[in-house]
Amino acid sequence: MANSNSDVRLGIIGIGNMGSTHARNVLDGKIPRCRLTAICDAVESNRDRVPEAKAFSDPSEMLRSGEIDAVLIATPHYSHTTLGIEALEAGLHVLVEKPISVHKADCERLIAAHRGGPKQVFAAMFNQRTDPHYRKVRQLIRDGELGAIRRVNWIITKWFRTEMYYASGGWRATWKGEGGGVLLNQCPHQLDLFQWMFGMPQKVRAFCGFGRHHDIEVEDEVTAYLEYADGANGIFITSTGEAPGTNRLEITGERGRLVVEEDRLSFLRNETPMTEFSRRSEFSFGRPPVWDVNIPVRGHGGQHNEILKNFVDAIVDGTELIAPAAEGIHSVELANAILLSAFRDASVELPIEGAEYESALRERIENSTFQKKEVRRVEEDLSNSFNT
Ligand SMILES: NC(=O)c1ccc[n+]([C@@H]2O[C@H](COP(=O)([O-])OP(=O)(O)OC[C@H]3O[C@@H](n4cnc5c(N)ncnc54)[C@H](O)[C@@H]3O)[C@@H](O)[C@H]2O)c1
Repeated sequence: MANSNSDVRLGIIGIGNMGSTHARNVLDGKIPRCRLTAICDAVESNRDRVPEAKAFSDPSEMLRSGEIDAVLIATPHYSHTTLGIEALEAGLHVLVEKPISVHKADCERLIAAHRGGPKQVFAAMFNQRTDPHYRKVRQLIRDGELGAIRRVNWIITKWFRTEMYYASGGWRATWKGEGGGVLLNQCPHQLDLFQWMFGMPQKVRAFCGFGRHHDIEVEDEVTAYLEYADGANGIFITSTGEAPGTNRLEITGERGRLVVEEDRLSFLRNETPMTEFSRRSEFSFGRPPVWDVNIPVRGHGGQHNEILKNFVDAIVDGTELIAPAAEGIHSVELANAILLSAFRDASVELPIEGAEYESALRERIENSTFQKKEVRRVEEDLSNSFNT
């Protein structure tokens, strides 16, 4: 294990789009006190992308090699569970890419394998938690600035993806390889932020388009209605088939309306909470006067490198994690509940039964007749593709 006098020796499994970017960031010295000592990929040409570290083709061999203190798992989603369990059981610190698993039952298996207590750091790559816009929203809610939340609308259709994207990996956009579509690949970020800011709903009713915009079998369009125990409700809309697309988070609380859109956080604050005003007003058409509150927020935070730095700081100094992996179960459960509602064409109560969703997913896999087109690999500049 690393101690305060030594760098954390990191291994990365999966040197594809994301893993190779993480590797480059570490090699470029962007993560203090972290050294990339090993990488692992099943494909030789991907291993060749990072000649600076010792290369393994078999993850088990790397995990048992003694060459690493910590591992970052950046492989397709199902293997987050199997590789994560193996790494945790080997006593390593683990940082797993989103989503932490494909379904709730796998999340529970993965989380149960973390038996090393606080000394074994187990984190998830929810890089959008570092964005100051969302941090500020969370703080404003927690501080009671918005009063009780009444409604949340999130339209996140800025995840436009082409047919070429889906053809770029055999695992992509299949029930068997990826376990879902936009909810499992792009939206884990927003679903995580949603539960991080507003908590978990108690009921979901959702409508999904499966292969509506692309030649794929999984969902590429989603409209979900969420109900909370206190009567608040939410709408979550996403798509990978819309351009230019929208990313607008609108929160209505008793004390006003908060909007995050186009790099801006705007807050119209009710002078009097709206329900109180409604009950007390002696006029038919009045409404509470509002203050236009200027909340300056700059940039989008440290994103992936900040999560990786925080992971290293947690290992070396015991720093609190920005995104503990155990919290990753919530975004997966939300995605599962939305899909289950669409499969059944009915409302779904939360918490869901992990085993029930697992068998619904297995049924999809077994009944699939989808033929994936030829896989075409392309090297691209991905710097703008990770965030909306
Ligand atoms: N946090 C983010 O912003 C972000 C962005 C993109 C992707 N991701 C996540 O990163 C992960 C990988 O996505 P990607 O786009 O890089 O996929 P990819 O297909 O480009 O890369 C996956 C790599 O894993 C390798 N691999 C697969 N199974 C393996 C195994 N058992 N052992 C060793 N190597 C194996 C493949 O050969 C491939 O090189 C996914 O979980 C994805 O959701 C996160």
